[in-house]
Amino acid sequence: MEVIILSSPEAVSQMGGRILAHQIARCPASVLGLATGQTMVGVYRYLVEQHCQRGLDFSALHSFNLDEYVGLGPSHPCSYHSYMAQQLFNHINIERENTHIPDGLCSDVMAHCREYEQAITAAGGIDLQLLGLGDDGHIGFNEPSSSLSSRMRIKTLTPMTRRVNRREFPPGESTPLHVLTLGVANIMEARHCLLLAFGANKAPAVQTMVEGPINAMCPASVLQQHPHCTLVIDEAAGAFLQLADYFRFVYEHKPAWQRALLEGSP
Ligand code: GLP
Repeated sequence: MEVIILSSPEAVSQMGGRILAHQIARCPASVLGLATGQTMVGVYRYLVEQHCQRGLDFSALHSFNLDEYVGLGPSHPCSYHSYMAQQLFNHINIERENTHIPDGLCSDVMAHCREYEQAITAAGGIDLQLLGLGDDGHIGFNEPSSSLSSRMRIKTLTPMTRRVNRREFPPGESTPLHVLTLGVANIMEARHCLLLAFGANKAPAVQTMVEGPINAMCPASVLQQHPHCTLVIDEAAGAFLQLADYFRFVYEHKPAWQRALLEGSP
């Protein structure tokens, strides 16, 4: 696992955006795994800027989102369908039929999950999986105690996640109890995982995922076993890392060719 510690949330978003833009420029027909949440807002803003100002081309790209709330249709303002449209898809030249988000209104959950996984396989698998981190160490919506071999399925959110995600919903509307999410095993099948996190409330989960034992109580810790995982965090999120100085040293002394492989030329 490569850990890159940057000075601010903005720097994290910029680097996340640059890594994605480099992947798209290098391989326009890439299959991206996409995430939602506050962390990704700046990343998608960066990609929209690259499209508008530099002509970054999304026309051959395929995307698969990690998760969706059960019971929210695509037009619900708090659905991840709406989030993706507002933050990214409405502003770039991606073909809508190439974008995939779990259907929170599907009538047969097991069949839908099976078909979603089959669509990822048919597209050739995920080249680059973007990930946020839950305060409790979840990735996608794989809450603590999720099997580290889990596949796409319905999950029940923990009270903590429902409390944190309350901010995505207007007053009077409660956070849904159930979600559809790609499983931990699906995430581990991506060729490259890119996890972004910033802010002090992520610091305990970051420390546990990077330096703790691999444990279903922190599903993100399984990324220690991924052959190509990049973690980009800010100083606040990295505050509890014992090896923070080492991670900074490694990044400062990274050979230029290796940096270019990750995020292209500056
Ligand atoms: C949410 C989502 C994740 C997201 C994470 C962090 O609950 N299921 O996809 O990455 O938790 O959210 P945020 O970026 O808002 O902190």
